[in-house]
Amino acid sequence: MNESVEQAPSPWKRRFIVLFILTVVLPGLVAAIVARRFGTDEAVDYKSPTEHFKYGSTGGEHEMGFPYWIWRALPGVCPQYLPGPGYQSLGMIFEKNPDGSERDVPVGTSKRRYQGIDRVFVNCAVCHVSTVRTAADQAPTLVLGMPAATFNMKAFEEFFFKCAADPKFSKEYILPEINRLGGQLDLLDRQLVYPLAIDIMRDRVLALAGRFDWVFKQHEWGPGRVDTFNSAKVIFNFPMQHLHPKEFDAPADFPSIWRQRQRKEPKEMQLHWDGNNTTVEERNRSAAFGTGTTPPTIDTARIQGVEAWILDAQPPAFREFFPIDEALAARGAPIYKQYCAACHGASGSDFSGEYVGTVEPLAKIGTDRRRLDSYTYTLAVNQATLYAGYPWRFTHFQKTHGYANMPLDGLWLRAPYLHNGSVPSLRDLLEPAAKRPKAFYRGNDIYDPVKVGFVSDQPALGGKKFFRLDTSLPGNGNGGHEGKAYGTELSPGDKTALVEFLKTF
Ligand code: HEC
Ligand code: HEC
Repeated sequence: MNESVEQAPSPWKRRFIVLFILTVVLPGLVAAIVARRFGTDEAVDYKSPTEHFKYGSTGGEHEMGFPYWIWRALPGVCPQYLPGPGYQSLGMIFEKNPDGSERDVPVGTSKRRYQGIDRVFVNCAVCHVSTVRTAADQAPTLVLGMPAATFNMKAFEEFFFKCAADPKFSKEYILPEINRLGGQLDLLDRQLVYPLAIDIMRDRVLALAGRFDWVFKQHEWGPGRVDTFNSAKVIFNFPMQHLHPKEFDAPADFPSIWRQRQRKEPKEMQLHWDGNNTTVEERNRSAAFGTGTTPPTIDTARIQGVEAWILDAQPPAFREFFPIDEALAARGAPIYKQYCAACHGASGSDFSGEYVGTVEPLAKIGTDRRRLDSYTYTLAVNQATLYAGYPWRFTHFQKTHGYANMPLDGLWLRAPYLHNGSVPSLRDLLEPAAKRPKAFYRGNDIYDPVKVGFVSDQPALGGKKFFRLDTSLPGNGNGGHEGKAYGTELSPGDKTALVEFLKTF
């Protein structure tokens, strides 16, 4: 009996072993492989805080991330929906690798491997970094924390919406383009993961396109602007078609985000253009919605990395790029002190001033009211439900009735001026509205050190067309911030001196 067992195991035992392998070992192995392959959630991290700001994740790739190779392939698949070659044509900035080659993704995008696929999405830097050039033949300098004055957010959104609706948004066109770019997808990616990802992405982008339909009905924002709070309403599923027409066409200029610590200490300033929130942290988390995150997907730890950095980040000085006439600036200092300091702070680094960080009623400031009206009480109430159940639930959003008196640090890099970017230069802002340019061009990164603003009278440069901002369109009004208190009645000589002093900010 024993012998026969050794020579030939009983059929039952053999069946048991086979069954065991089939039902336990094999599925376990497959599960382990699948888990390793598809269960990952790893962001690409950067040690240096500035690299983290430019390329680090805020968590948006979880829900919104574009599969890396689809992101890379789309400009080649849908070139007709871009103003020129590549993401560069939308005003995105590509840095160079140490070997001189171009980086694979632009400043303001982050990478994360999630559910078995490398994904790309935007981060804070896409709206808060740009370049400046002293002349057309000079190299651009990348400035972190300044408004992304060349980035066209609306054209960026429209590119994906239009491409997803195009018949070429399919594996038949995308996979060959990935190949052409040198993407070596393995068998599983080629046969299964990417074809599936292409379908999922198309559905998602098209669904989103439906929700963002109102965007297409707006006047162009052009580069450097976004309709902040109408975009936020979409997150709450507001019925956009039923909103009052006056809530729309409310483009806001991207602001600079340096020196946040001084905006919370010694007192918490009311900020955002209309002063609707007093805490830096809520403004940051609110901004994170712009990077595609939601309460369950936000990457709090990594956002805190950005928060910590912007607390003390500082703008580069004007005099590192152009000379300042010190004697003339000294003549401008007392004029600034007399007229401007109470609302805007003692200098570009000392923000003390009686009214700094408070809201100036619209009736007094008189600038375009669209941005103010776009932020409604109903939206404020809805924002108070954000992060409900979390210790950091939003509690500070409020409806205001004017625009905030903000510090002017790094002022020279914040052109065009006012909340809607409707005045091209500081010199123009010191003129009464009737004498300010009625239309001008946005998107040039060449600087005009005399008027103090970016060159705004050139429609194009080297094949790149700039955006013509027409101040007569809704949301683009360039009125207000005028009269004696705002310096528009000063003599031409005093204005020149004041502008020279503002270069020191
Ligand atoms: C889609 C573009 C966009 C992205 C992405 C974005 N921001 Fe902003 N940010 C804006 C705009 C526009 C405003 C001004 C909002 C307003 O008042 O209308 C703003 C305002 C701010 C402010 C307040 C500035 C002030 O003084 O009033 C801070 C701070 C800020 N953003 C930080 C961040 C951080 C941190 C991130 C990433 C988590 C981020 N932003 C991502 C566009 C963006
Ligand atoms: C009563 C308060 C008050 C006074 C006085 C005042 N401002 Fe302003 N200023 C504001 C407010 C409020 C805004 C925002 C208006 C808007 O964007 O719609 C603003 C906006 C600005 C901006 C645009 C900032 C940006 O990032 O786009 C500049 C520049 C500016 N002021 C300079 C000055 C100068 C120079 C003076 C003195 C000649 C001055 N202001 C006097 C309240 C004031």
